[in-house]
Amino acid sequence: MTEVLSADAAGLARAARYLAGGALVAFPTETVYGLGGDARDSRAVAAIYTAKGRPSFNPLIVHVADLDAAERIAVFDAPARDLARRFWPGPLTLVLPVRAGAGISDLVTAGLETVAIRVPAHPVAQGLLRAFDGPVAAPSANLSGRVSPTRACHVVTELGGRIAAVVDGGACRVGVESSIMALDPPRLLRPGGVSREALEEALGQALPVGPAPAQAADSEALRPSAPGQLASHYAPAARVRLAATAAADDEIWIGFGPHSAKADLSLSPGGSLEEAAMNLFATLRAADQMAQERGLQKIAVAPLPETGLGLAVNDRLNRAAAPRE
Ligand code: TXA
Ligand code: MG
Repeated sequence: MTEVLSADAAGLARAARYLAGGALVAFPTETVYGLGGDARDSRAVAAIYTAKGRPSFNPLIVHVADLDAAERIAVFDAPARDLARRFWPGPLTLVLPVRAGAGISDLVTAGLETVAIRVPAHPVAQGLLRAFDGPVAAPSANLSGRVSPTRACHVVTELGGRIAAVVDGGACRVGVESSIMALDPPRLLRPGGVSREALEEALGQALPVGPAPAQAADSEALRPSAPGQLASHYAPAARVRLAATAAADDEIWIGFGPHSAKADLSLSPGGSLEEAAMNLFATLRAADQMAQERGLQKIAVAPLPETGLGLAVNDRLNRAAAPRE
């Protein structure tokens, strides 16, 4: 059975004890719920991959409480430190060289020489990291390839019985995963909770988006060194059609802005991209449920602009709509 823990001192202490014992605990961050395990404990990290059904060549993000803790695990140069000071705690993940002797399990990095690291802003995530007092490896707490969880009940539905506990911290505020940035050279590997515009402003230069171009014709090139991953991801059970300005009778229609009144559901009737990000995954789940109840197999989604958090929302929608194996 998976225990649902309250987000108070007693719940966090219990969650930290589970982590210290090598067990897995899901916890809220400002982006989505993470499936946490001790990043130094290869057995715990292996259990994360198993619980999610995740391919072990897809590395995990290490979560720490602050920049000092991050510097013990990764090597920061001045530009990296500037970004960290500006955006942490918050929804930015930095991909940096692993520090020698950092003590992180090789399974976390999937054998890469870099580590993805972030300092979450959510007070419950902060509380857990401080109670545990160590680095926590955490992918999103969903089955591999499925919609990310933004509430504790989403975690219980998918991972209940497979993990020790979930700390219930309510709904996630940002709603899409962190932005993942490589630094050398700067590249936005995955659009997320910090907008491209904000990162470009901080860097003082344009930021290319997407997986890093494959370096060499070796086996490394086949790995998702970037979180481009497999094309199909974030997939609800129903098929997804994008940029829908109208819906057919056999579709559940998810609206946005002006395309909300006639839609079955809306990401944001007022056309706010922050609200759309916050609602995205729960709305995909709700649409899936609605489709199932009505015996339908299709979800249509209204168009959203590519600016601000729209870039991350559209990225997730594109993957939800990608052809499946
Ligand atoms: O908001 C988030 O980032 C959430 C919360 C829980 O923190 N976590 C999350 O983790 O989205 P996950 O595992 O679903 O996505 C992490 C991505 C993966 O796609 C992986 O390919 C990429 O990070 N990644 C991890 N280490 C990397 C590395 N060294 N270089 C490039 N990409 C890396
Ligand atoms: Mg994920």
